[in-house]
Amino acid sequence: MSGEDFNITVSFQHRIRFTRGAFSAGNRMVAELLETRGRSKVLVFVENGLREFFPELEGEVQDYFSDLKGLRLTGVEWLAGGEEAKRDDQVYQDAMAAIERHHIDRHSYVVVIGGGAFLDVVGFAAATGHRGVRLVRFPTTTLSQDDSGVGVKNGINAFGKKNFIGAFAVPYAVVNDFQFLHTQPEDTRRAGLIEAVKVALIRDGEFFAWMESNVAGLRALDEAILEEAVERSAIHHARHIALGGDPFELGSSRPLDYGHWAAHKLEQLTDFGLSHGEAVSVGVALDTLYASKVGLLESSEAERVLRVIEGLDLPVWHEALELRDAKGRRLVFHGLEEFREHLGGELTVLLLKEAGVGVDVHEIDEKIWDECAGELKERSLSTV
Ligand SMILES: NC(=O)c1ccc[n+]([C@@H]2O[C@H](COP(=O)([O-])OP(=O)(O)OC[C@H]3O[C@@H](n4cnc5c(N)ncnc54)[C@H](O)[C@@H]3O)[C@@H](O)[C@H]2O)c1
Ligand SMILES: [Zn+2]
Repeated sequence: MSGEDFNITVSFQHRIRFTRGAFSAGNRMVAELLETRGRSKVLVFVENGLREFFPELEGEVQDYFSDLKGLRLTGVEWLAGGEEAKRDDQVYQDAMAAIERHHIDRHSYVVVIGGGAFLDVVGFAAATGHRGVRLVRFPTTTLSQDDSGVGVKNGINAFGKKNFIGAFAVPYAVVNDFQFLHTQPEDTRRAGLIEAVKVALIRDGEFFAWMESNVAGLRALDEAILEEAVERSAIHHARHIALGGDPFELGSSRPLDYGHWAAHKLEQLTDFGLSHGEAVSVGVALDTLYASKVGLLESSEAERVLRVIEGLDLPVWHEALELRDAKGRRLVFHGLEEFREHLGGELTVLLLKEAGVGVDVHEIDEKIWDECAGELKERSLSTV
């Protein structure tokens, strides 16, 4: 027998930028961000839903690139976005066909402007066309700016499972342009804040305290406060991915997935009628209360978390938690098995020890979780 092991190390730069009006005349950020080789091609994808809010966007993009020497805009493609776009591979195929039609090569850029779902689909096409072309993301929702857009994942849903088909791919750059934040539907704008709450809870107690003291401003969607929350959250997410030691999620510990085992199942149980943000909100409430019931977290700390969630007008409970299988077991608990399968064997759930500090646990008590779901139902119904 013979053989040899080789270590392959590839280094990526994860460029995160914040700006306002990236394509307005005089904003040099994109021009300086994109490295050029001869005249690199740029193909821009925008999600259809943005047209009514930003009717000038296509013209601005055209003017912006027409003034740049090293870059050539080959086209602006408008495609469907939202969760629907991830349901099958139609939008993925359309994006791939455009990448081929515009002769985008590995030194060209795909720029994608849209919500988290759209970024996931077009990002998957960019990660797989030519085995990967440069992707510049412009997230346009709270959730995609404060979390998913600065991540390294993409994908579409299949077999009734979220993100079943996809790839890990570090984008060339992520540009959080705050001009997009303030036109989202109010519930979408607010729901994405749960990912900021989540990352504060697992990483930064001071940031959580800041959110707590600014909860009224956040609920009212005060622009400056919303932008600060988004920026702090985005940097925490990017820092964890870049420096946390497991960017492509090979291990079992997933701190950024706090509250997500239940969230993913709730999204599936509601046929994705419950948005990711709302589902995470319920999942965070559930896991936070659980930690206090098993004695890990002071109950006063759990109460602070629930109050912030409620203060943001986000749910701590959803009726899909009541769905049960033939044996009377809540269907949401099947999410634990799916989470375990996704992690590759060992169930690892992050729980809070205090606001800002998490700990991985492997033993769970479903009966206590069941009590938590009951308690959150009462709490939620009593505050309606
Ligand atoms: N890749 C990852 O790591 C990761 C992580 C978390 C979530 N996600 C995915 O992100 C998706 C959710 O993303 P989302 O919360 O951004 O929702 P979304 O992409 O579904 O967008 C929500 C709605 O807002 C509209 N919209 C987007 N930007 C707008 C704007 N600026 N003004 C007006 N309307 C706007 C969209 O057209 C859509 O109807 C889910 O599919 C989720 O699985 C991915
Ligand atoms: Zn999430």
